[in-house]
Amino acid sequence: MKEMLSIIIPTYNEKDNIAPLVERVHRALSGRDFEIIIVDDNSKDGTIEIAEGLSTRYPVKLFVRREEKGLATAVIHGIKQASGNIIGVMDADLQHPPEVLPDLLKAMEGGADIVFASRYVEGGGCPGWDLTRKIISKVALMVSHILLPSSRRVKDPLTGFFMFRRENVTVEHLKPIGYKISLEIMLVGSFKNVVEVPFIFKERSAGQSKLRPQQQIDYLKHVFSLMARTGEIKRFLKFIAVGISGTLVNLGVLKLVTMFTGWHENVQLIPGIEVSIITNFLLNDFFTFADRRTGSKLSFFGRLAKYNLVALAGALINWGIAALLVNAGLNIFLSDFIGIVIAFLWNYFFSTIWAWK
Ligand code: GDD
Ligand code: MN
Repeated sequence: MKEMLSIIIPTYNEKDNIAPLVERVHRALSGRDFEIIIVDDNSKDGTIEIAEGLSTRYPVKLFVRREEKGLATAVIHGIKQASGNIIGVMDADLQHPPEVLPDLLKAMEGGADIVFASRYVEGGGCPGWDLTRKIISKVALMVSHILLPSSRRVKDPLTGFFMFRRENVTVEHLKPIGYKISLEIMLVGSFKNVVEVPFIFKERSAGQSKLRPQQQIDYLKHVFSLMARTGEIKRFLKFIAVGISGTLVNLGVLKLVTMFTGWHENVQLIPGIEVSIITNFLLNDFFTFADRRTGSKLSFFGRLAKYNLVALAGALINWGIAALLVNAGLNIFLSDFIGIVIAFLWNYFFSTIWAWK
């Protein structure tokens, strides 16, 4: 079968970018079979008229949505209209240089099922970002890598610049919220060979970014929805169940120790903590992280040692935060509860990225 590339470009108020973009795509892909699908959400700045003009000179198809809005759903709309067997997705604002498209195509021809243009592999980057944007981007990346372990197949699952084989994803299964369509497609589709190529995320020269604080909230909702759809939420719930069982073990051991020893109270607390760490470890190893145990590079005792450190630090955090809040005048049970929740997140975080990496 002959390969054809459909490049989906979502636009919203990109009047100064759209013509140079189409020209550069055309030049970068000369000699290839391709089409450009522009999905505009009713721009008011003249983008639509310019795109209409471009469609008479280039293989450009324009779709204007009047009712719906949103980057990710615009991309899905475009995929549905595409005739190609290979789908490319990129921004319209020239932050994704069209000259990278041949690199992505080469990776596809080399056997990739999906290829990400990545800011975070050797040779990639995003120069000119201020500290806030850098931190937001890294935190978003960490959230994805921790809560959605299958996103760890790539360093930059949140890029908006990527290419994939259409046959590997059922469009009807896509239910994204917000911006991160590449994450959605990678996790919902069935891709064997996942590849990353570096690219430099250019600074925007014209128009404005549509990124707002609301997008961060949408992103968290999206991650949660993907956790539910990929079954990762089960792991999180198992970890909570194990945590509750550990609390009961801790209290039970404390009961026994107080019954049978006359030790100082500070010392009587210790066995319950350590025993519950060990029972938590065993349950997590055989239950919560069963799928990771087999692939783990660490031995049983290596994992046990790491989890022990994580959980002991967690206990300190629990105690430290509760003590701080109590001293600040908060109710002691509420203080402890807040300490427990924060220590719990700490434990989950380091268990997934370190103990059961
Ligand atoms: N149709 C449509 N509807 N297009 C939209 C909408 C919308 O509601 N919102 C944004 N776009 C288009 C813009 O016109 C642009 O072509 C592209 O989507 C990206 O929007 P920007 O507002 O420029 O996003 P950004 O630069 O902040 O974010 C980009 O970089 C992120 C990585 O830092 C995007 O590529 C993200 O997907 C990417 O994660
Ligand atoms: Mn942009």
